[in-house]
Amino acid sequence: MWAETVAVTGAGSGIGRAVLLAAAARGARVAALDVDTVAATAAADAALAAGAADAVAVACDVSSEPSVVAAFDAAAAAVGDPGAVFANAGIEVNAPLHLFPVSSWEQVVAVNLVGVFLTCREALRRLVEAGRGGSIVCTSSPAAFVGHSGGGNSAYAASKGGVSAFVRSAALDYAPHGIRVNAVVPGATDTAMLTTGGADPDVIRAAAAIQVPLGRLGRPEEVAAAVLWLLSDEASYVTGSHLVCDGGLLA
Ligand code: NAI
Repeated sequence: MWAETVAVTGAGSGIGRAVLLAAAARGARVAALDVDTVAATAAADAALAAGAADAVAVACDVSSEPSVVAAFDAAAAAVGDPGAVFANAGIEVNAPLHLFPVSSWEQVVAVNLVGVFLTCREALRRLVEAGRGGSIVCTSSPAAFVGHSGGGNSAYAASKGGVSAFVRSAALDYAPHGIRVNAVVPGATDTAMLTTGGADPDVIRAAAAIQVPLGRLGRPEEVAAAVLWLLSDEASYVTGSHLVCDGGLLA
């Protein structure tokens, strides 16, 4: 059985967009939340074309409490309260740690960690009130589990480590409500996040792929398949877990 309504943050691009479209293809009503409203609107249009029962694009900056509250209100008014939520929006800022600006640290933590908290809080408030259980998936990263030398990746790693710890405790707190909370751990996935950053995207792709045991980058659709399973009732006995979808990177 599939949740009738699915909300996705960071739905305008990459993994979030792929999850939105995969849920749409199963006939769900979907809400595409993104700070980039043009991308969110395009994703919602694509969701309708993919078979969504209904779709809405909602402006949402996950790092802002009023924005997240308003976005959940708008999404609920348009397509109904979500029974499944993908807290996925994230950013990456890389710089040598000894030169890392506090403002960049705060920005990464605000989007990646506070954003997951705010998204989950709004989702949980509504799911608890509805009393029908539910499923939340948050996007973590291999950076939560292993170091990555030379990339200036510490702020991102700290934020994703926080997401993974958050998921475990939230899962325990809401298990009595029948609400499952899990994390997906995408490996190097071919999205704008991976390929944006100055260098030739093909050079970035090749350098990342060479480190992957399966010898290639992941496709957003492959991560989406893992997320859809966690969001669905097929994963009804899975909570507090991390589903690693990384081509063997963490093996
Ligand atoms: P992406 O850059 O293609 O998509 C990210 C989306 O989040 C964009 O649509 C962007 O507008 C949105 N966004 C950014 N800041 C936002 C904010 N404050 N509020 C709402 N939306 C915001 O990146 P991708 O790869 O799809 O990333 C999705 C998640 O996957 C992120 O949490 C990222 O950290 C994680 N991840 C990605 C990996 C990769 O190799 N691509 C690997 C491991 C984790």
